[in-house]
Amino acid sequence: MTPEIMKERAEARVRHAAEAARTQGTASGGRSASYGRLVRHGEPDFTQGVALYLEDITVSFDGFKALNKLSLAINVGELRCIIGPNGAGKTTMMDVITGKTRPDLGKASFGSTIDLLRLRENEIAQIGIGRKFQKPTVYEELSVFENLELALAADRRARASLFHRLSGEQLDHIGEILTLIHLKTEAQRTAGLLSHGQKQWLEIGMLLMQDPKLLLLDEPVAGMTDEETERTAELFLSLEGQHSLVVVEHDMKFVDQLTEGRKTVTVLHEGSVLAEGKLADVQANEKVVEVYLGR
Ligand SMILES: Nc1ncnc2c1ncn2[C@@H]1O[C@H](COP(=O)(O)OP(=O)(O)O)[C@@H](O)[C@H]1O
Ligand SMILES: [Mg+2]
Repeated sequence: MTPEIMKERAEARVRHAAEAARTQGTASGGRSASYGRLVRHGEPDFTQGVALYLEDITVSFDGFKALNKLSLAINVGELRCIIGPNGAGKTTMMDVITGKTRPDLGKASFGSTIDLLRLRENEIAQIGIGRKFQKPTVYEELSVFENLELALAADRRARASLFHRLSGEQLDHIGEILTLIHLKTEAQRTAGLLSHGQKQWLEIGMLLMQDPKLLLLDEPVAGMTDEETERTAELFLSLEGQHSLVVVEHDMKFVDQLTEGRKTVTVLHEGSVLAEGKLADVQANEKVVEVYLGR
């Protein structure tokens, strides 16, 4: 690289790091404020086996109930698929879990003790809930490696070392994630040149850099090729156990691969749970066929 390009990239990294720190609320003010709050709430307690618990969550938009007494429990290490027609409230549910939308009524806890409804969006990200939106949002002009490096910046534990050299441990962590997301050979490639599917994997990798306990994935394989979709299912299956995953998806072949014929699928309709059970069972459920699969 020429010195000009190196300087340009260094400047871009500093710019993006500042942005990452700001959006995650880790700038000094937000950091000390959230620190006090987290101490009051304590660390998440997963000893009861519960990763996420929602009870009677109701969200109204101008009188219309996007969520209507939604109750849901996700176990530690569980991979749960959520399906349902457009407008069922799937994205709104993720908005509530991540603190983007406040419900009118209901309870939401992370682990068995943390009350999510009392935390702000950045605090929820920091206690270990990662969210993947439908559209990939990677830093296009940076390399794959730099994107992962930058994801460390959003982690307040790692932030102190951001402007110094990466520690051996951090390098190992980036290497592990690169392998997991099938981008090891693309590490030095500019992210903007990746395929749509690869960008999605990179964004998942960026979330994984912060080792979230719970991952929320909203339509992660939309727009992917069949092969990318299959590899994404393999990736999620390899994360199961270490992380809890909530996957919203319309692609039934993908859901089938993820659930392996035995895991629970939740069907949402009009803001509440319409059915829950094995994929084959909910697909045979008359109510489900009527509102969703039959159309
Ligand atoms: N900010 C908002 N203001 C008004 N209505 C909304 C808003 N967000 C979602 N909705 C409505 O809530 C319902 C559920 O939306 P959404 O959660 O996006 O459904 P899904 O993700 O299952 O397709 C839809 O009818 C949608 O139009
Ligand atoms: Mg949606």
